[in-house]
Amino acid sequence: MEQQNLDALLKDMDLDEKIGQLLQLSNNFYEEEVVMTGPAMQLGIGEKEIFRAGSVLSVFGAEKIKAIQKTYMEKQPHHIPLLFMADIINGYKTIFPIPLAQGCSFNPKLIQECARIAAKEATVAGLHVTFSPMADLVRDARWGRVMESTGEDSFLNEQMVTAMVEGYQGGEKGAELASKGSIAACVKHFAAYGAAEAGRDYNNVELSERTLRDDYLPAYQAGVDAGCALMMTSFNTLNHIPATGNKWLMRDILRREMDFSGVLISDWAAIEELIYHGIASNKEEASKLAMEAGVDIDMVSGCYINHIAKLIADNGIAEQLLDESVMRILQLKNKLGLFENPYKDADEIESKNMILCQEHRERAKIAATETIVLLKNEESILPLSKKKRIAFIGPYVEEERLYGAWSLLGENKDTVTVRTGVENVYRGSSDETIFCRGSSLLDPNEILYGFNGIVNAHNEQSNEVLLTEAIRTAEKADLIVLFLGEHAYHTGEGGSRGDITLPNCQMQLFREISKVNDNIVTVIFAGRPLDLRKIEKNSKAILYAWFPGSEGGNAIADLLFGEKYPSAKLSMSFPYSVGQIPVYYGGFSTGRVFNGDRANRFQSTYQDIPNEPLYPFGYGITYTEFQYDAVALSKNILQKRDLIHHENVIDIIEASVILTNMGERMGVEIVQLYICDIHGSVSRPARRLKGFQRVMLQPGERKKVTFEITEKMLRFYDINMNYVSEAGEFRVFIGGDSITMNESRFVLE
Ligand code: GLC
Repeated sequence: MEQQNLDALLKDMDLDEKIGQLLQLSNNFYEEEVVMTGPAMQLGIGEKEIFRAGSVLSVFGAEKIKAIQKTYMEKQPHHIPLLFMADIINGYKTIFPIPLAQGCSFNPKLIQECARIAAKEATVAGLHVTFSPMADLVRDARWGRVMESTGEDSFLNEQMVTAMVEGYQGGEKGAELASKGSIAACVKHFAAYGAAEAGRDYNNVELSERTLRDDYLPAYQAGVDAGCALMMTSFNTLNHIPATGNKWLMRDILRREMDFSGVLISDWAAIEELIYHGIASNKEEASKLAMEAGVDIDMVSGCYINHIAKLIADNGIAEQLLDESVMRILQLKNKLGLFENPYKDADEIESKNMILCQEHRERAKIAATETIVLLKNEESILPLSKKKRIAFIGPYVEEERLYGAWSLLGENKDTVTVRTGVENVYRGSSDETIFCRGSSLLDPNEILYGFNGIVNAHNEQSNEVLLTEAIRTAEKADLIVLFLGEHAYHTGEGGSRGDITLPNCQMQLFREISKVNDNIVTVIFAGRPLDLRKIEKNSKAILYAWFPGSEGGNAIADLLFGEKYPSAKLSMSFPYSVGQIPVYYGGFSTGRVFNGDRANRFQSTYQDIPNEPLYPFGYGITYTEFQYDAVALSKNILQKRDLIHHENVIDIIEASVILTNMGERMGVEIVQLYICDIHGSVSRPARRLKGFQRVMLQPGERKKVTFEITEKMLRFYDINMNYVSEAGEFRVFIGGDSITMNESRFVLE
């Protein structure tokens, strides 16, 4: 539809119809007979409002969505189609690794392909919008939603958010939203939700504006620059003002500075929550604040539908604000082609053929192998030899739930378990028992209230029985692979934890097995960095599998037996202990740099734990060794502008290393470039990631890996909050993780 037709449509809509477009209802309003009790009554709405709503979330299935859309459009006064939205976070039914694992791939192209598959499956099943990618930077493993982020670094998050938005929306800047297989991306949660104080979900966020701008905003900006169709407000406060009612954040920063012109949707009931935050005394005031902040869609709170008409009648808000929001929603529907085809890609037959097809599974398996991180490999115990007698022990050996908390449509029956994956590549030396559980996943007294169900260990065999069998099995084996981990529901929304160690029953299994066999490889399933100190001490190798998704068992088996080689690097630091949190790479030097000498107590360190994390951001090893030669620079002076030619030619320094594969196996190394601004008008972080390259080398092969350094990469918010670079000396690091000291220096003039 042309813009003038949208203008004419808006003009022809009455006030109630316009306000209806801002209402998003949950699925239960449309799936059964019109729900006049319960939810409808709670929201104070009736059938009229239900058939004026602009969007619905969490309806699944082409047949169901088409039926709802048909009925709805017959009753909507101008037959304006509904938008169908849902949380397709890491896949629709073909489930990919959790986003925190996807960040470990350092492979934006792969992540874009995964997002594309998720979009194709979700749109053929009738959906139009996904509440993904989450662009929130995270530095606190206590927060359950770290699993949904791509990690602690803004540069990596920018690349990943761009890849996901382009994967979802197809092509550049969402130009092909209407095309088959494209779904509108909703970047979230604006802004800085990942900095919740104490890692407690929904908690207050205390950030300086400089940290907000330097570290947290770039990934949202990347989403806007990639053309994300929607942005979602975050639950938290910023500067003591809840984001959903924060005019500075939404109008000055998001819309004006970041140039976002898409649809702004609140998070779940976040408009009503302005009352509980204490900045609105009722839903009418909450609606006014959210409208003034420019929030277009009210997700399920019912505030807008019940209070905007009165606010306009009382001149509490201008009808112009309403019209702007309605137009943005109509334009989104138009970009998706819904006025021409309200069912978009929904197709029951094609759903059956395409969803979870082998091609999608293959991509999910590649994604899992490229996101599982090898953290330790003493004596090169990995890859495993098929000639050895190996026992596979742990609650995850036959566990079917290998997908993350937000995998709403993931199903156990579609998941390749560890046992199945191992049996696909290893038959064992005889038919003796080589697989056993060893312990339950959860401690006996633990109950987890998940997204759709309760999980506990109540109907399990006793841990004593399980342990006895495990010890007997371990005694007969040359080598043990232990499969341990937290449950998916230990993370995700509402999954904050003060203790980030494995359940006691699993640690008891680990201790008992360690007593009878010291050839232990440990594979960990988790949605966050866990405290691995005790695991690290008694494991010769550690593979961190995160929640690898539908093909997890096959990917893990391929890595264990060397059918595939690990290449992933950590997207988030692993704390030595929870007491270190927040711990992240490239922190500030402070005025009392710890020099290792504890005799001088007046230094920035702890008395009982180290400053450094157990494993740093960017770390990960593989089945070969890489050697980095010294960093070479094409020159040592970089000019802000190339004054010699009096043109705005960008000056560049080429920084390079020679990388050599020193081992007997091929390998992929993620070469990382970090830059340190030694001093500035404000304190500068010890280093920040500015580039990375995936390099595959055969045994003995050498390759020159080159990065370009430009003045733009050196910009930050200076003492006056101007986004500039400052002349001075810089350190350049190139290596295989964020603690490499392989460096050189240059000067910016
Ligand atoms: C939740 C989450 C958000 C999600 C939304 C819809 O509360 O915060 O990420 O997209 O509600 O499910």
